[in-house]
Amino acid sequence: MERPPVCLVTGNEHKVREAAMTLGRYGIRVERCPMRKLEVQSDDLVEIARTAAESLCGRGPDAPLLVEDAGLFVRRLRGFPGPYSDFAYRTIGVEGILRLLDGVEDRAAYFMAALCACWRGELACFSGVVEGTIALEPRGTGGFGFDPIFVPDGHTATFAELGEDVKSAISHRARALAAFAEWFLSKEL
Ligand code: IMP
Repeated sequence: MERPPVCLVTGNEHKVREAAMTLGRYGIRVERCPMRKLEVQSDDLVEIARTAAESLCGRGPDAPLLVEDAGLFVRRLRGFPGPYSDFAYRTIGVEGILRLLDGVEDRAAYFMAALCACWRGELACFSGVVEGTIALEPRGTGGFGFDPIFVPDGHTATFAELGEDVKSAISHRARALAAFAEWFLSKEL
């Protein structure tokens, strides 16, 4: 029996494409789920994703439902914007983060993604982290959000310069999705 496509609850087309590329490597198909997710406020990304997934469990099609929440954590800013990344992106934006790090030598940061899946009444959460640094200025046109200023460790280019093919293999989201893929593929149909 063929596995059903997983249903990703997001309005972000970039996330759908990245997930399709990552999960495609496992033979798993991805569709965008046109459902609204509950957004609770918390310092913990897993709690945010878990609460949203719980509220949608059993309401979608007969397919695994995926809810993801991600954020950028900057060490010198004590983890800001972290769970508030969406708000920070819409308010101070990429330029605002760069201004906060003006003249700062320690530019270490990481992206984290929390991913919760609900399928056949079971809820499972996975997370993924990618370490890197904040660039001195925005570079590249690919991706979304803070991609133009994030340089993953082991690279000199930003996520926006590396493009979706590379990003979907090494990113925080890719790592969380890979853990999900192992879980999903271990389940009997
Ligand atoms: P969301 O709530 O998971 O959509 O993520 C919150 C914010 O974090 C987004 O609005 C983006 O600005 C940022 N973000 C999350 N994931 C990524 C990513 O993969 N690249 C760049 N920015 C991201």
